[in-house]
Amino acid sequence: MKNQRRPIAVLTAYDYPFAQILDGAGTDIILVGDSLANAVLGLKSTTEVGIEEMVHHAKAVNRAVKKAMVVGDLPFSSYQIEGADVLKDARRLIEAGCDAVKVEWFKNCLDVVKVLRSAGLAVMGHIGLTPQTADELGGFKVQGRTAETAKRLYDQALALQQAECFSIVLECVPGTLARIITEKLTIPTIGIGAGAFCDGQVLVLHDMLGLLEGKPPKFVRKFADYRRDVGKTIEDYLTAVRCHEFPGDAESYGMQEKELEMFIKTVNQTGEFSDC
Ligand code: KIV
Repeated sequence: MKNQRRPIAVLTAYDYPFAQILDGAGTDIILVGDSLANAVLGLKSTTEVGIEEMVHHAKAVNRAVKKAMVVGDLPFSSYQIEGADVLKDARRLIEAGCDAVKVEWFKNCLDVVKVLRSAGLAVMGHIGLTPQTADELGGFKVQGRTAETAKRLYDQALALQQAECFSIVLECVPGTLARIITEKLTIPTIGIGAGAFCDGQVLVLHDMLGLLEGKPPKFVRKFADYRRDVGKTIEDYLTAVRCHEFPGDAESYGMQEKELEMFIKTVNQTGEFSDC
């Protein structure tokens, strides 16, 4: 797709129904992101999500997907803490049906990619604003705005390509830098807050659907306001229940008159439900 200049459309998904919708609509890559933490589980940081949750949700997504490539995010605890067994965790995501795993840049990132590639696993890299190590980057801020930090990101991108990543996510970097990196690399770049010149784009599904509370980051376009729409739909249901308007005849099951009469006779004879 990169060679043909066909933009790669990527979205996150964490469950069966949304994965089915995304796949049916023709999404190229579905990412089971560790944004699961904030988007779905109500956690503050992606570092709070572990491999058990990632595998659980990856299985749900993969049960639905027939066509798209599915990438599973390796969580922070799979490779950035002492005693982690990244290969074991990556294999669990692959056994859950994922085609590839994604790793965020950190100081030993290239060693991790090497281990995964030696085992034959397809790896997507992730540089720029890497939420798992955002504290070390000065928070959730645009990365690579100075000549020095831009060069660092450029070098990281080249190193990940050299380490045989099949693609790299560029998060929250100036569009001009993303363009230079994209033109330099032979593997595709997938941008999120990285301007229009990446080979593909990714958004967190719940951000672009407008499902989450609060103001999203600048780079998010809300393609819908489902928080408002779903909220309104729930209110309609509550009103219908409370006004005895739901369920109506069309949503209820009937019984043949003859059977009903026989039944009432029986319970009356046995003295039960004698009010009937
Ligand atoms: O976890 C995630 O959803 C991600 C994307 C934002 C790229 O890593």
